[in-house]
Amino acid sequence: MFQAVLLYLTIFSNLVSLTVPKGSTTHLREIVIGRCWDYQRLKSHEVTKNCSKIWGIFSKAFAYKDPCSVSLADYKPYFDEVGMDIVKPNKSLFWSGTYKEAHLFSDFDSRFTTLEDTMAGWMVNNLTWCGTQDNTTSGDGIDYSSCPASNKNCDYITHFWGQASERFAKKASGIVRVLVNGSRLSASGYPAFKNDSYFATWELPNLRVKEVTNLVVLVVHTIGVDSTNLESCGKGSIKLLQDTASNRGIKTTCYDDPDQVQHLLCADHPLAKECIFFKNSERKISQTVNQGWKGWKVLAITLSAVVGVCLIAAAVLFICRRRLVNGMFSVGYKNHTDP
Ligand SMILES: *[C@@H]1O[C@H](CO)[C@@H](O)[C@H](O)[C@H]1NC(C)=O
Ligand SMILES: *[C@@H]1O[C@H](CO)[C@@H](O)[C@H](O)[C@H]1NC(C)=O
Ligand SMILES: *[C@@H]1O[C@H](CO)[C@@H](O)[C@H](O)[C@H]1NC(C)=O
Ligand SMILES: *[C@@H]1O[C@H](CO)[C@@H](O)[C@H](O)[C@H]1NC(C)=O
Ligand SMILES: *[C@@H]1O[C@H](CO)[C@@H](O)[C@H](O)[C@H]1NC(C)=O
Ligand SMILES: *[C@@H]1O[C@H](CO)[C@@H](O)[C@H](O)[C@H]1NC(C)=O
Repeated sequence: MFQAVLLYLTIFSNLVSLTVPKGSTTHLREIVIGRCWDYQRLKSHEVTKNCSKIWGIFSKAFAYKDPCSVSLADYKPYFDEVGMDIVKPNKSLFWSGTYKEAHLFSDFDSRFTTLEDTMAGWMVNNLTWCGTQDNTTSGDGIDYSSCPASNKNCDYITHFWGQASERFAKKASGIVRVLVNGSRLSASGYPAFKNDSYFATWELPNLRVKEVTNLVVLVVHTIGVDSTNLESCGKGSIKLLQDTASNRGIKTTCYDDPDQVQHLLCADHPLAKECIFFKNSERKISQTVNQGWKGWKVLAITLSAVVGVCLIAAAVLFICRRRLVNGMFSVGYKNHTDP
């Protein structure tokens, strides 16, 4: 009986989590305000922005509203207030289908800057929020129980993230990078460059042709998965990406599994065949590193052995030479005395 109840509860909760979309993130206000102060502490080293004010501007965009009625323009004040000053020349990194890998690579703006490394993106990254007109249950106009699934008629998520992507793309200059997933076609059926992705719809079309000197396309493949349906530079949807950029007047360069990304990904797969970078010399390198002192011992023993052998050889040579010289003299002597 108890087991049956448990089973029923499990099935029921699974059904609930499948059918009812998540509501706004609990403690949304505290998280956003906390991240806002923390970002300034971590990245600007001086706090110049008022985070209570930023929360006010952000929440005004959607609180007490029907989620499906929130427009692009509603979020404009938030982006105007926060700005994207952190984006520097040569540092922009776009991504599509490589969320984890791109952020591993960017290292929170240390190497490169992704949208989620900017203040506007970081404060709300991986959070859910939507408003409610029902003002009786919750006092703050935010719906914590459910948010509608996003679709063509109710695209409130894109009104935030699409606008964020557009502003981020418009800031990019110099060498610009995009990290795409060459294994996605085989893993999930989506091509590396999908024409309805954020990159294709909001970012690539908004790159400033005069400011971008090169669009570097970095194609990564999932390590440890053998697959025949892989995409690579100059082929399939990646060729389409390159052609689309070229048609806009943006020069592209493309690399398959570039070392700087591959080494990071290999940290999780050190034994995969894609990760044996040094091939035959790999073992030698690890031996010198681990057993350096043993190497010196072997060298010392070898050296003493060589010196010993040399000494013996020298002694033997010395004796032989003396005998030979004596012999020669004696022969000469004999020659002179024989007749
Ligand atoms: C920060 O903004 C809040 C809300 O807009 C305001 O009440 C407060 O006075 C501001 N603080 C400072 C130091 O400007
Ligand atoms: C961007 O990269 C180019 C080419 O490597 C270099 O000439 C330029 O100085 C870089 N700009 C900055 C701001 O680092
Ligand atoms: C590529 O996409 C697939 C399917 O979404 C995913 O499982 C895989 O982790 C991704 N690989 C990389 C390297 O991003
Ligand atoms: C996003 O947050 C959820 C919890 O709401 C967590 O399970 C998930 O790992 C997070 N994803 C990323 C990419 O940080
Ligand atoms: C919702 O309720 C709060 C507090 O009762 C009130 O301040 C606010 O004006 C109300 N908003 C709307 C849209 O009714
Ligand atoms: C996007 O690609 C799909 C499939 O390749 C195609 O059917 C659709 O027409 C394309 N949409 C646009 C806007 O190019």
